[in-house]
Amino acid sequence: MIFSEDFMNELRYKNPIEEVISSYVVLKKAGSTYKGLCPFHNERTPSFTVYPNTNSFYCFGCQNGGDAVTFIKNIENLDYVESVRLLADRAGMAMPERGYDDSVEKLRRTVLAINRETAKFYFECLINKQDDGIGLKYFVGRKLSTDTIKKFGLGYAPDSFDKLKNHLRSKGFSENDMVLANVCSKSRKNGRAYDRFRKKVMFPIFDLRGNVIAFGGRKFPEDEGAKYINSSDTPVFKKSKNLYGLNLAKNSGSKTVILTEGYMDTIALHQAGFNNAVGALGTSFTADQANLLSRYFDEIVVTMDIDEAGQKATGRAIEILKTTGIKVRILQVEGGKDPDEYIKEYGAERFRILLDGAKNDIEFKLLGAKNQYDIKTDDGKLNYLNSAIEILASVGDEIARNLYAGRVSSETGVEKSVILNRVQRAKKSGERKALKKEFSEITRPKYSPNDVNPDAKKYRRAAYAEENILAVLMQYPQYAKYVFEKLKAEDFLTQFNKELYSKLQEILLSGKEFDISYLAENYDSKQIGRVIEINNKFTFSNDLDQIIDDCIKVIIDEKDKLRIITPSNMNDDDFLSALHREAKDKKGKNKNGRD
Ligand code: UTP
Ligand code: MN
Repeated sequence: MIFSEDFMNELRYKNPIEEVISSYVVLKKAGSTYKGLCPFHNERTPSFTVYPNTNSFYCFGCQNGGDAVTFIKNIENLDYVESVRLLADRAGMAMPERGYDDSVEKLRRTVLAINRETAKFYFECLINKQDDGIGLKYFVGRKLSTDTIKKFGLGYAPDSFDKLKNHLRSKGFSENDMVLANVCSKSRKNGRAYDRFRKKVMFPIFDLRGNVIAFGGRKFPEDEGAKYINSSDTPVFKKSKNLYGLNLAKNSGSKTVILTEGYMDTIALHQAGFNNAVGALGTSFTADQANLLSRYFDEIVVTMDIDEAGQKATGRAIEILKTTGIKVRILQVEGGKDPDEYIKEYGAERFRILLDGAKNDIEFKLLGAKNQYDIKTDDGKLNYLNSAIEILASVGDEIARNLYAGRVSSETGVEKSVILNRVQRAKKSGERKALKKEFSEITRPKYSPNDVNPDAKKYRRAAYAEENILAVLMQYPQYAKYVFEKLKAEDFLTQFNKELYSKLQEILLSGKEFDISYLAENYDSKQIGRVIEINNKFTFSNDLDQIIDDCIKVIIDEKDKLRIITPSNMNDDDFLSALHREAKDKKGKNKNGRD
């Protein structure tokens, strides 16, 4: 335990979980629990549950769970100690002076310090015109102003394998930490660190608090290789959870955000006065990013490539975004340009017009359908109508449905009432399908519980008994002594349950009662979610003694079964008896007339 028992008890007491969570999630009381929409995955029906009496939460949809500390850890993207600090601050408690292990927090701080120093170094190299000023020439050639360069902290990574490394070493950082921060790589030959970004223009990536958490580096046009290289995930950076420029866009005062595909588009938009632009970080758009945006904005305009891959990617992004309730519009830039190129050619005014005319997703889909067919021909018209009816059937709002049915009517010359009639029919069958889908979504979790404990699939019978025993221990600590005497951790066949069992031994044998917060330090929220699930899965009646004995027997049986199999570890007797058994099995089969 990093913190003292007393401290954690007070922290728990002063931070009731439903209060902590309700500053992030709208919770509704449901009996002795609370329910809300899960902030960790996209959903329309609440499966996120808060249990005040055990100070825990669990989502039946994505199977994340934990206590208040785990919740803060995940939602604020902090480490364990930082999360405890946040909760302590919230409750007006002082953090313990010293004496806790803050190695992870220290590591993160070191990485952030290296990143900051590195960004400064790259910036200086840019401004001081290292390597004949090719970095600055490049940015100036792309029409970036000095203000923009400063605002985004752009830089230049010199054409060298050790300039950054030597600089960082002079500031007292170790090569190991430079590699961890991913600004250096480790040579496979001699294990030494060398600069990862060489002869690149550099784009530092900031988090919402203004820390430098990662870098993107762009090659020069004349050089070979990938256009951009980016930091991999580090102790302070997860690509799928961040957006380029969000630190600036969130302060733009706008309720609308413009999503672009990358660094240069984001920067060009800001320079043209669109301070509400952010960039995806070269990955497909994720649910985490959607959730992040919906915290700050009501509406998103997705700018996209006109090509097919771009269309598909945008389609997926729209689906993800819609589930967060944020309003989505799509901006297609004419002439296959990206926003940066467009603004350079036609100016900000014309981009503003494009932006104001950005289509909502219904218009976007209708347009996509229309472009697929030649609606001057009857055949094309019919095909378009069929697609349009499907699209309109998915529109929830009646007024919008009416409006667009009117448009389709005037485009095709088919009467609006006829179109609406067909839409109504399509809607009915669509609703049936949706209901079925929603039902299967609820009953079949998106993530398999076995993700956390893959062994459970292999040893079903054992895993079930193991979980039973674990649940007993969590709910009835008075049986701990009895169980621990009969069952050793080594008897467990599945790794996750085995580790949990050891952990329970440690907790219960020291006379404490189990509390989910004992796990928050070392378990992630998926793992804690699994523990909560195990605990909720089993309720016991009065034949508890019998259940315990049965489960212990099953666990030991299953383990013994495994032991016999391999001939290499058999002694002569085992070998003979196994041989004997095999012969008997064969005879049995013959009798049944199978062979
Ligand atoms: P683009 O190829 O559209 O680049 O990739 P760009 O931002 O317009 O850059 P310029 O204008 O050519 O300089 C879009 C985004 O995809 C990621 C980057 O985040 C980039 O901004 N990307 C692209 C990579 O990560 N690696 C690559 O090799 C290419
Ligand atoms: Mn570009």
